[in-house]
Amino acid sequence: MNMVKKSFPLRKVYGLLEPGPVVLLTTAENKQPNIMTMSWHSMLEFEPPLIGCVISNRNYSFDLLQTTKDCVINIPTVEIAKKVVQCGNSTGATTNKFKKFGLTPIPAKHVSAPLIDECYANLECKVFDSNMVEKYSLFVFKVVKAWINPGANTPRTLHHLGYGRFMIAGETITIRSKMR
Ligand SMILES: Cc1cc2nc3c(=O)[nH]c(=O)nc-3n(C[C@H](O)[C@H](O)[C@H](O)COP(=O)(O)O)c2cc1C
Repeated sequence: MNMVKKSFPLRKVYGLLEPGPVVLLTTAENKQPNIMTMSWHSMLEFEPPLIGCVISNRNYSFDLLQTTKDCVINIPTVEIAKKVVQCGNSTGATTNKFKKFGLTPIPAKHVSAPLIDECYANLECKVFDSNMVEKYSLFVFKVVKAWINPGANTPRTLHHLGYGRFMIAGETITIRSKMR
């Protein structure tokens, strides 16, 4: 194979490597919940599960997180793609996104932030390490409780390619014989 490659702009590189799926991060203060769309996240440890997330200090969610030190990472599917984009293009500082975009908050077990009922999986998280927040807006969260819809076999999650384009997952293959 001889693939002819062309130069690719550095500003678009994130769209190639973004791990996805796009998630909805919920936070809450004084029972006022908020939702933020987020795709810059990465697993850091198996168990307890640790997740690194970049949350800009320009976002209202950043302030709520700094106060409560907890959140929920909710994993949406293509059925609510439009709401995912709307949550990423408005701020909880002036909008109640649950009400405006018709999403349902469910109380979490261990954190102040709510689960989003319409998402197929929900991870209750506590801030584990904030050493890199000042420099990179990078929070390390520990998952303290995880929920999943047992009926979601092949969830059609969203993966951001940049500029509002999304790839949709949906096919599962198993290559167990080659796994160590
Ligand atoms: C697909 C998508 C992915 C995004 N990923 C991130 C992210 O990883 N980190 C971040 O800080 N903002 C991200 N944003 C932007 C926030 O969702 C956006 O600034 C939002 O309005 C913040 O809401 P808040 O002010 O209520 O916290 C993303 C937006 C979209 C549409």
